[in-house]
Amino acid sequence: MRLCVIGCGNVGRIIARAVDEGTLEVDLKYYDRNPKKCEELGKPYSKGFEEFLEGCDVVLEAASPQAVKEFGAKVLERADLIVLSVGALLDEELLKELLEVAERNDKRIFVPSGAIAGLDAIKALSLVGIDEVTLVTTKNPKALGVEAKERKVLFEGDAKEAVKRFPFNVNVVAALSLAAKRLAKVKIVADPNVDKNVHEVYVKSKASDLYIKVENVPSPMNPKTSYLAALSVIELIKEIGERLRVGT
Ligand SMILES: NC(=O)c1ccc[n+]([C@@H]2O[C@H](COP(=O)([O-])OP(=O)(O)OC[C@H]3O[C@@H](n4cnc5c(N)ncnc54)[C@H](O)[C@@H]3O)[C@@H](O)[C@H]2O)c1
Repeated sequence: MRLCVIGCGNVGRIIARAVDEGTLEVDLKYYDRNPKKCEELGKPYSKGFEEFLEGCDVVLEAASPQAVKEFGAKVLERADLIVLSVGALLDEELLKELLEVAERNDKRIFVPSGAIAGLDAIKALSLVGIDEVTLVTTKNPKALGVEAKERKVLFEGDAKEAVKRFPFNVNVVAALSLAAKRLAKVKIVADPNVDKNVHEVYVKSKASDLYIKVENVPSPMNPKTSYLAALSVIELIKEIGERLRVGT
């Protein structure tokens, strides 16, 4: 499989490392608006976007929400697309356009589970309708850039307002909302007694109620990204090329 990666930043580097270590078996090619970043990676890259797209089976967007807007439709005319800047898909117009292009060209859009778990069950429950989905994210006050001597709720409200005020959470909120087929309610909590990034998901539906708790440590290669999120991206790429798919 030829994997073409938009973005030679932190995630781009994690993917290159996974290929070098033999965890991922793909042919790699890169593109970045800043070609110097690709040079530093030491992997093949293209300076022009059209040239970059040639021969790609799957394109991984690992750049920014802007890149999803700029390149998403162009990619889906030629290849499947993995979107990492999932927050971009909270824009309903853009999501509709990308789905139309994918449909017309028989291509698919993939979204990794990222820093949370349980999206398989949430998708299944969405078949009977989910009555409520809530995400509670708890971080150390330092990680949130606030002062708090005890547990403090910083925000409680709807997904769109939450991602405007706390953009760090945007990919988790978007993946959850896409899986549940409705916008999640969001609560952001600062707690000096936690040292991990904790996501709790509560789902109420006719078939099951779910409670999922994930305590994430930062990625060894990039403290801004949860280790689980980086691993989920690698696992998704592996699954696309595999015959047996479990839980997708
Ligand atoms: N869903 C997930 O699980 C998950 C996990 C990690 C990161 N992400 C998202 O993936 C994206 C990349 O993360 P990162 O940590 O590697 O970021 P980064 O800033 O380290 O690297 C991004 C790279 O993309 C390039 N870039 C940005 N916009 C571009 C554009 N419009 N055209 C061409 N190149 C462009 C930049 O020059 C940079 O080299 C972010 O949006 C991040 O939120 C999602």
